[in-house]
Order: sequence, then C-alpha cells, then structure tokens
Amino acid sequence: MNTAHIEISDREEAGCVFLISKEEASKLGIPEFAGEEGESYVSLKTPIPKIYAGMGEEKSLSLEGVRRGVSSGIDRALSMKLKTLSIGFQNACLGEVAMVGAIADASVLATYVFSKYKPPKNVIERISIKARDKHQPVLKRAILTSENANFLKEWISESPTIMNTAEMEKLCREVCEKAGLKVTVFGEEKLREMGMEMILAVGRGASSGPRMILAEYNGGASGKKKIALVGKGITFDSGGMNLKPTGHIETMKIDKAGALTVLAAMKTAAELKLNVNIIGIMPFCENMIGPNSYKPGDILRSYSGKTVEITNTDAEGRLILGDALAYAVEQKPDCIIDLATLTGACVAALGEFTAGLFSSDKELVKKLYESGEITGERVWHLPLHKDYSKEMEGNISDLKNALTGRVPGAVMGAAFLQNFVGKTPWAHLDIAGTAWWDKKRYYVPQGPTGWGVRLLADFLEKM
Ligand code: BES
Ligand code: ZN
Ligand code: ZN
Repeated sequence: MNTAHIEISDREEAGCVFLISKEEASKLGIPEFAGEEGESYVSLKTPIPKIYAGMGEEKSLSLEGVRRGVSSGIDRALSMKLKTLSIGFQNACLGEVAMVGAIADASVLATYVFSKYKPPKNVIERISIKARDKHQPVLKRAILTSENANFLKEWISESPTIMNTAEMEKLCREVCEKAGLKVTVFGEEKLREMGMEMILAVGRGASSGPRMILAEYNGGASGKKKIALVGKGITFDSGGMNLKPTGHIETMKIDKAGALTVLAAMKTAAELKLNVNIIGIMPFCENMIGPNSYKPGDILRSYSGKTVEITNTDAEGRLILGDALAYAVEQKPDCIIDLATLTGACVAALGEFTAGLFSSDKELVKKLYESGEITGERVWHLPLHKDYSKEMEGNISDLKNALTGRVPGAVMGAAFLQNFVGKTPWAHLDIAGTAWWDKKRYYVPQGPTGWGVRLLADFLEKM
C-alpha cells in the first residue's frame, strides 16, 4: 500500500496548499477561483507553487468541506507531479483541533493507493501540516484511525481467492495479537457442536470452511459499557445456487466488509486505548456453489432455535448474522451494532453516500447519526416496524430468509435480523452502498472505501 507520511511541520515543500473558504476567496481577487468546495487553483508566481483549495461557504462549512478541500489540493499536486506538499489554513472557523484532525484524515485517506499489482505513476510522499505543535495528539489520533481505514481497503482489495476464510482467521489472529486483543476461533466442529446451522449451511459449498471469530477488547474501567460489534464476513458472495449474474458478481469480494470493519475498528480502539469494552463477532463464510451447497427449500434450525426456510441462497448475510447476533445477545452486552453489506436494495434506496440505519433504540440512532455527521460517514434511519417482521414469517418454518416481488429489500433484511436480537438495544447498518464506490470521489478511491472505521472510532470514544 502507498500513503504519504504526514507530520506537523513548517518545512518548505515542493508545493503549498492553502485551504480557502468562499469568503476568503472573494478577497483574493482571482476571477477563476471562487473557493467552492472541491475547486482548486494554482498560482505559479512564487518559486514554490501555491495551490488554492476551496472548502465552500464559511457559514455552512463542515469538516467534510475541509476534507474535500484537502483532497482537491492533493489531486492538483498529483497532476503537477509534486512529491511533497504543505497544507495550511488561515481561518480556523471550525476550531483548530478539529481542522487539523480533518486535514490529517483526508491526507492519509486521499494519498492511499492499492499498489500491489500496479504501482501508481505519481505519489505524494510527504505532507507537512502547518499547525502548532500542541496539536500532535489530534494528529496522531487521526493518522492512526485513518491508516486503519486504509488497512481495511487493503484487506478487501486483495483477490478473494487468497482472502478465503482460512486467511481471515490468519488475519484476525495477526491483527488481534499485535493490538493486544483476545481472539477466539470457532471452527466447523465447534459450530456444529453449538448448533450454528445457519453459518454452517452458508459455508458448506466452499473448500475453505466457515469460522466464527471473536475478538475482545477490555479497555473500560469497571462499570464502563460493553458493546458488541457484529460484522458480515462473506469472503466472496457468488449468490450460491441463486447465482449472481454479470454486473452484480464482480465486486462481491466486498461482502466481508462488515466483519473487517469490526476488526479495523477494534484495532483502532485498542491502539487509542479507548475506555470501553468491546466484543467483536465475525462470522466468515464463502457463499459458493458445490456438491455440498445449501439449497433453496432447505429448512435450517438456527442457533437461536428458530427455524428458517431458505427461499434464496443469495440472502446469505442475514443467515450468518442471525446466528452471530443470537450469540452476541448471550454475551449480555449493553448494545449490539452490526455492519453488513446486506442488500442491493439499500444501494437503490440511498446510493453510495449514506448507509441504512435500522434501530428502535433512540439513543443509538442519535449517537450513530451524530458520529456520521462528524466523520462524513453518513447514516440514515429507515423504518423497522412489526408489520415488516410479520412478512418474514414462514409457512412450514418460523421464518423464511427472502421474499420475492416488489418489496423493500433493505427493510426486509433488517426485519429478518430483528428476530435474533431479543430485547438487547441493537442497531443494524446496511453498508452495501457505502463500502464500495464505483468511482473515486474526493478523498475516497474507487473500490473499497474503508467506510465505518472512523465512524465507529468516534462512536466508541464517546461511550
Ligand atoms: N451481498 C449481497 C448484497 C450486496 C449487493 C452487497 C450489492 C453489495 C452490493 C447480498 O448477499 C445479497 O445478495 N442480497 C440480496 C437479497 C435478496 C436475495 C433478498 C439482494 O440484495 O438482492
Ligand atoms: Zn448474497
Ligand atoms: Zn452477501
């Protein structure tokens, strides 16, 4: 992977980015530059080129405007083949600490390149942020967190044939050991003993068998909350017997993003020594076709005891999550948050900018929404009433895993999951749209976006 080295320094670099609001731009007297968000302008009048990068209007300025300003400056510098860059701002309208954090985040995220199979032509090697030395702590926090978002992109970009369930076990063990997290792996035999039939069924068609991996971080003082993070870990989703067609199957290495976001967030929590307790629950399967694959019509007995008829093998995420959520409830956490690339319908509803948030817990909704507004990883609350849950009831089983026809697919996925969380406060994030972007925008590359690591870090820090 490629990322720039970032530090606070007033060193002279090959280029100099000035973050400029619209109001400041109007005073510059450059007709070609209005300071709009994402706009940039180069002045070559000085020996060191000046790059003006717009953040938009001051009165509606958000940290996202700052991050986008930074990325337009970086894009401009890359097109000029500059290798080092300084970034500075005049007007700290959002507060210096927050601005330095946002500049560092955007610098780390925007200079990331997955370089293993095609080295990039130009890279920025170093960015010097012009800020006071007392801002080292926020700089360090931002770099650490955003680098973990980059790790998440790196893990997902690699070939899914390499990143199978055995490799996921290796990765989890490595990351947890380094970060000082306790790790436990339930292999096939253990899953059978426990009765996790839904995880076993989804994983049955693959040559690399299913696993459920637990990671534990106990950084909280006594009396501090315990949070369960659950993530969908389908290393590749072929759709199974309900095979996905061309146009839908190509990006399905993304389907482990939920689980790996949990891993990256826990790594972050441990490295930042956050004062909180977390249990991460990551079921990993590969959804494949083979002589042993599960089939439409199969009826499974889930870990919770509820029976489920398979109506579509491509609705596999909710199955592995159902067992993982039922296990999470038994660990008696204060709340459960799950992340899953669960439905194409969520992409249709909200696109790539916003994740679907499903929860009947007002406090969780508020907290997740607020964290999303701060980190720019937005969520939107969608409904989850009893009426929807009723629709998921089966004829010869308690539940069926999918419906056909014109149904609100993202809501139905969430409604299915609700059957496995009992009364524990719970929020489900459908990240099918946000985890993978079809094109680069601002500081987010095409492909895996690293979405959620910064959001969860912010959320966990405030617990
Ligand atoms: N992994 C997919 C959802 C997905 C779609 C993720 C697009 C990322 C981008 C999931 O397993 C799936 O296939 N869901 C089905 C559910 C349906 C069969 C009820 C879907 O969304 O079509
Ligand atoms: Zn699927
Ligand atoms: Zn899937």
